[in-house]
Formats: sequence, C-alpha cells, structure tokens
Amino acid sequence: MPHCSRITRSALLSLWLTACESPTPGVTSPLPPTLSASATHGEPFTNLTAAESDRFIAGKDEFEEVEAIDAGLGPIFNDASCATCHDEPVGGTTGRKETRFGRVLNGAFDPMFELGGSLIQDRGIESFTGEVVPAGATVSAQRITTPLFGLGLVDAVPDEELRQLAQLEAATSPATAGTPSMTREIRTGRTRVGRFGWKAQVPTLHQFSGDAYLNEMGITNPEFPDENCPQGDCSLLAHNPRPDLNDDGTGVTRFTDFMTLLAPPPRGEISLPVLTGGGIFANIGCANCHTPALVTGKSPVAALSRKAFQPFADFLLHDMGSLGDGIVQGSATARQMRTAPLWGVRTRSLLLHDGRATSLDAAILAHDGQGKGARDRFQRLSSRDRFALLQFLKSL
Ligand code: HEC
Ligand code: HEC
Repeated sequence: MPHCSRITRSALLSLWLTACESPTPGVTSPLPPTLSASATHGEPFTNLTAAESDRFIAGKDEFEEVEAIDAGLGPIFNDASCATCHDEPVGGTTGRKETRFGRVLNGAFDPMFELGGSLIQDRGIESFTGEVVPAGATVSAQRITTPLFGLGLVDAVPDEELRQLAQLEAATSPATAGTPSMTREIRTGRTRVGRFGWKAQVPTLHQFSGDAYLNEMGITNPEFPDENCPQGDCSLLAHNPRPDLNDDGTGVTRFTDFMTLLAPPPRGEISLPVLTGGGIFANIGCANCHTPALVTGKSPVAALSRKAFQPFADFLLHDMGSLGDGIVQGSATARQMRTAPLWGVRTRSLLLHDGRATSLDAAILAHDGQGKGARDRFQRLSSRDRFALLQFLKSL
C-alpha cells in the first residue's frame, strides 16, 4: 500500500482516484489499508472471522423476520420487518416513503408530539388505525428509505474525525462548510456527532436499530421502552395487547450486527470519462460536501478497523435552502440536511430525501442554499464535461 505523511483532505482526495505518491522521507505513518469489500450488494465483508460471519447471518435473519402482534408489533407501526423497506437486496431500499409533520408557531418549529408528531405510523393492529397528518400541521415532509450498505464503516468513524472535517471545511471552503449534528447517545448519555438518517439525527447503528424497532415497527426495547401513543392519544394504549417490554435487546443487537458487517456498495467500472468526471466533481465543488474518503478508528472488527473508505459524504449538516425538509430534528434546522452519501448511487432510482428526483440531473439541479454554487457550475458545464461528471456518478 502507498504511504502518506499525514491524512489530510488532499491525501484523501488523491487516495480516491490514484494513490498517494512516495512517502515524505522520515515519516512513516501508513495510510490505512484498503477494504476487503464484496463484489455484489448485500454481501458481508469478505474477511470476517467465523464468529463474525455467524453474527451476520443471525442478524440478517432477524432483519428479515416479519413480526407478529404477539411479538409486540404495533399498536401503530409502519411495517412489520426491517427488510420490508430495506430490500432489493436485503439492506437496500425499496423507496418506501414515510411522513413527518409539525407546525411553525411564533417562528419556532413544533413537532406536535401531543398529536403523534413528528413521525407518522401509518398502520395499526386490530382496532388501531394508522396516523394521519393532523389539520393544524403547517409542515409535512416525506422521507425515503435509505440503503444501509457499508454503514458499519460510518459507525466506526470517530466523532473527532467528523469534527475535524467540519473545521477543515470551515477553513478551506467556508461557503459550503458543514456542521456536525449534535445528538445524545442514549446508551452512554454522552453528546455524540450524529451521522445516520437524512438529518444525521442518530449517532450509532445500535441506537438507530432500537429507534427503528420502536418507531417503524412498534416493538419496544431497552433504550426505547415507551410505545407511541396513536395520534398522541395515550389513553388508547389501554388496548395494547403487549404492554410489556417487547424486545430485551437481543433483536436490537442482531440488527446492529447485520448492518455493521454489511459490506459497502462495490464500485462500478472506472473508464476514462469516469476519471475525467471525478476531476470535474472536485473542481466544481461537489467534493466539498460529498467528501470522497473517510477513515475509521480502531474497531474490534478487523474488517472495520482503521480503514479508508469512500462514501462520498462528510455526514455533516448543510443549509440546503429550499431543498431542506422543514423539519427541525435534534440540532438540525429546518433547512439543514446531511450530505447524502453517493456510494451506490448508480443503483438508485429515487433520489433526494423525499425521492422527488428520478435522475441524477434532477437531483443536482434541486441543490440550493450552500449547494447552489456547485449546482450553478454544473449547469454551466459543457455537454462533454457534464457527460463525464454523470459517467463518474454512474460509476459509484
Ligand atoms: C417503514 C419502512 C421502514 C422500516 C420498517 C425500517 N426502516 Fe430503516 N429507514 C426507513 C426510512 C424512511 C429511513 C430514513 C429515515 C430518516 O432519515 O428520517 C430509514 C433509515 C434507516 C437507517 C439510517 C441509514 C442512513 O442512511 O443513515 C438505519 C440504520 C435503519 N433505517 C435501520 C433500520 C432497522 C434496523 C430497521 C428494523 C428494526 C428498519 N430500519 C426498519 C424506513 C424503514
Ligand atoms: C453544500 C453541500 C453540497 C454540495 C456542494 C453538493 N451536494 Fe449533493 N447533496 C448534498 C445534500 C445535503 C444532499 C441531500 C439532499 C436531500 O436531503 O435531499 C445531497 C444529495 C445529492 C444527490 C442525491 C443522493 C441521494 O441519495 O438521494 C446527488 C446525486 C448529489 N447530491 C450530487 C451532487 C453533485 C454532482 C454535486 C456537485 C455539482 C453536489 N451534489 C454538490 C450536499 C451537497
């Protein structure tokens, strides 16, 4: 493997296209080794231990398991298994959308908890009915299901790395600089840099698993022990057939295992236009937010430990102007969204948080706010350069 004197942003940029050149004399800190990823979507890392492979398989089973009422499904829920939404292949996305709502009151966002906000559960078991956007809501936004490939790597990036990246962006490209999403890690009570979800609202895969088990499926678990009150009416929970804690944490651990060990999307073919397009991507400022490479910290899983990987995102929040979804969540404002990772984008048919774009062009042209400069430069590209840029995106 090539060596770099220091892992700077330019080193990471070059790592993505070529490799770093000869090491600075006398400096020996090695660039992290490359990944042992798999050749197809939906597979685990290829270099897992036998015990890790078993955890992946058990995790995948649990992820695909369709929950029933006697296992705690509901009273209100969105779907009965993780894989109903995260599929094609398992761990991906079917494009299933869900709805969040709220209202702006005296200039401040109100998630309308007392009416079941901000996330809607659109189905109910037995006599329960799915929630709807209530009459008083002034904001209603849709979010599509995101694919989960490679997220174990994202989970393994130290908070400090994301904080430093934000500082670096503020110093080198202030107009497009991102902000770390500050969230609370329930397990430790610590403030952590969020990185999962369209608003980077969740800090770890473990926490997202518990959150999704409750908020997508209605299965209570140790970190999320309270059922959602249907449309905010907690008296209805008197009819909940499973008022006890539904999962003792085993399910949550298994989902986490599956996602942690799920390999990132394999890169497509790299042709000459792809290489040219990669240069244009950096030149017109796309790479300011869609950071080509990040590095994980130490992990007990060797496949994830100190690895450079290429998500094409900084996982920071950016003010996207009119592209924001209007929902205030954690430290994310109405207009701030997390830079969407572009790995695997060639396999996707619905783009942007609400799936409004069905082509790469449309997704780019919807960039506003801090993304407007890059969008305008994209629009001014010659047809040849635009072709190369799109070929590059189609190689991710
Ligand atoms: C009804 C469909 C649905 C179900 C069921 C569902 N999800 Fe999701 N998932 C989504 C949507 C929509 C998002 C984006 C949510 C957001 O950002 O607000 C998402 C996002 C995620 C993310 C964040 C990924 C990223 O890109 O940062 C993780 C992790 C996740 N889901 C795990 C799970 C697990 C584990 C389960 C099962 C316990 C599950 N999901 C069940 C729809 C679903
Ligand atoms: C200021 C930061 C920023 C810049 C600069 C930027 N993007 Fe984005 N990009 C984002 C954010 C944030 C999103 C997610 C938007 C949303 O929530 O819908 C996104 C989404 C996307 C998507 C859709 C991905 C998906 O999963 O739906 C594509 C494609 C994309 N960007 C390509 C580009 C290209 C090409 C450029 C350069 C012309 C660019 N972006 C410049 C921040 C940026």
